[in-house]
Amino acid sequence: GKDWHDVIALADLEKAWVTRVQVGRRLIAVYDSPSGVYASLALCNHGGADLCDGYFDGHVIECPLHQGAFDVRDGRAVAAPATRSMRVLEVQVRDGMVQVRI
Ligand code: FES
Repeated sequence: GKDWHDVIALADLEKAWVTRVQVGRRLIAVYDSPSGVYASLALCNHGGADLCDGYFDGHVIECPLHQGAFDVRDGRAVAAPATRSMRVLEVQVRDGMVQVRI
């Protein structure tokens, strides 16, 4: 089953940017957006690049390798060559701590 995991204090998130965290062996990208905090698996589903090294603007993360892009709110691929939605994770903030369900 899935469990909630503390990943980072809200205050430690890069503002309006992407922050890399780790849960067990899984790399996770946490996004600080205008409408709240979102999270996805960190590795791009197109070619495995680390999205945490990409460019984040608004709600869109652009992959550093081929500039594919995803909307972090629902994972939808919004720029080629990314075509498949990325996996987004449920996020909540409790007592100033960002938690993801995985
Ligand atoms: Fe991300 Fe190719 S590895 S777009």
